[in-house]
Order: sequence, then structure tokens, then C-alpha cells
Amino acid sequence: MPGRPEELTGGAAGRAPAGPRVIAVASGKGGVGKSTVAVNLAVALAAEGARCGLLDADLYGPSVPLMLGVSDARLRAGADGRIRPLSAHGLRIVSVGFMVPEGDALIWRGAALHKLIHDFVHDVDWGALDFIVADLPPGTGDVPLSLHQTIALHGALLVTTPQAVARADAARAASMLRELDIPLLGVIENMSGALCPHCGGAVPLFPDPGLEDAAQFGAPLLGRIPFDARIAACGDAGAPLMARYADSPAAEALRGIARGLIRHSPASAA
Ligand SMILES: Nc1ncnc2c1ncn2[C@@H]1O[C@H](COP(=O)(O)OP(=O)(O)OP(=O)(O)O)[C@@H](O)[C@H]1O
Ligand SMILES: [Mg+2]
Repeated sequence: MPGRPEELTGGAAGRAPAGPRVIAVASGKGGVGKSTVAVNLAVALAAEGARCGLLDADLYGPSVPLMLGVSDARLRAGADGRIRPLSAHGLRIVSVGFMVPEGDALIWRGAALHKLIHDFVHDVDWGALDFIVADLPPGTGDVPLSLHQTIALHGALLVTTPQAVARADAARAASMLRELDIPLLGVIENMSGALCPHCGGAVPLFPDPGLEDAAQFGAPLLGRIPFDARIAACGDAGAPLMARYADSPAAEALRGIARGLIRHSPASAA
């Protein structure tokens, strides 16, 4: 049996003296559930009383608007010219999906990509926040680099699934974080067993038994989120699991991670 979820460690306590703790959700491999975790973790943080923003930093495939049921929303600037984030589900949200029609190809490179990340961080009137959760695109490309150059990240969470191929990509992402001196706050194993829709019991989804701990990443294992068909349904319906199935094992795992982040980051935004 895998061990219990562990407490958070690390965090760039000294690097961001005021303002929100910016926490990037990264993975290496695509499709392992970063956006699902980022969205539901942000909702969980807000439900726990934290003032939370959600920065959809996936400039190529923004999932946040659809997952939160706000695909038709558009960003507007206030009288001062600063971008007003969208307010929904108790969060302040910014996504490139609020700027372009759904389904349009999004091709960013070099300076344009960097400027957009910079604007999303510095030209958005985020207001006073405790946390900003940033949903990254897969891989170790330009977006994490730009974000890192734009703001002192409090740290990153690494999402992986019980597969060697996902862990290998996660190891690469962990190595990128180390090179950039971004603290790895912890690892989250997603799709960690499946919940049987009939009996509610846990059944293995992948042949791999999953992580016992996250020592190989030099970080704590913060939680395991089971595969639950309701998560995918909620994401597609734009209703976060945290709100609709607050008592589900997945929601409980995410709530535990959110509480750990709050415990570990007592300082509030100015
Ligand atoms: N624990 C889970 N149980 C059931 N479905 C899940 C779970 N986690 C994620 N999913 C589903 O898996 C798919 C991929 O999830 P998601 O989009 O969050 O991954 P991602 O890592 O952000 O992908 P990308 O790398 O493309 O950004 C989605 O359809 C989502 O609804
Ligand atoms: Mg995603």
C-alpha cells in the first residue's frame, strides 16, 4: 500500500515578500491532469478562505475557460487601462481563451509569448490575493521560462500519473525546476487508481502500482487523486468537481493539498 500524503516542504519564502504566492502546476507529460488539478485546487483554496487567482498560462491550449464554464467571457480593461480579471467560482481568472475565439489556432513565439505572460502577471489588476495558481502547458518550454523571468514563483507542483512514461517526463520537469531554482513544493499523483462507478471501490487503472513516495523527485508526495469519470464530466460541463462533488475522494485529496498550501504559506498578500 502506498504511504500517506506528506506535508509540503520548500517554497520561496524569502523571494516574494509581498503579494500573492504564485504556484505553478507543471507536469512534463501532457494530458496528466494539470489543468484539472489547477482549476480544482484554486477552487479548493478559495473555499478554504484564501483569496485566489487562476492564471491560465497554457497559451497554446487554454482549458480553464471551458473547465469553469466561462468560455464566452472576454477580458476588459478598466479606466486605468489595466486588464480586469474575470470573477467566477470565487476566483479571479485570466486566460488567453478570453481573448480569442474558441477553436482558433494559437501560435506564440519568442517576444510575443513573453509579453503576454508579462502582461498577464503585471498588467492585470489582480487585486489583493493570497495565491495565484498558474496552469502551465506540458513540457519544459518557453512558458515556464517566461513566467520564471517575470515573477518570483513561490514554487511548483508536479502532476504525474502511475506510468513510467509520465514519471520520466516529470523527472525532466523536476530537473528544469531545479535548474531555474524554482522550489518543487510537492508531487501529485493523478489517476491514481480508478473509482469503480458501481461499487465505489478503487481498481488499478494502469499496470504500474504508482508512487510510494516522491523521494525520487526530492519532494513530498502531497496526494493521490483517483480516476473518477465525474471529474472529466465536470470539466466538460464547466462545473468544478470541488463544487459539485465536494465529498468525493478526489475532492478530499485536493482539499488536503489546498489546506497544506495554506498552512505552509501563512503570509497574506498586502
Ligand atoms: N482524476 C481524473 N479522473 C478522470 N478524468 C480526469 C482526471 N484528471 C484529469 N482527467 C481528464 O483527463 C483529461 C486531461 O486532463 P487535463 O486537461 O487536466 O490534463 P493536462 O495535463 O492539463 O493536459 P494538457 O497537457 O493538454 O494541458 C481531461 O479530459 C480531464 O477531464
Ligand atoms: Mg492543461
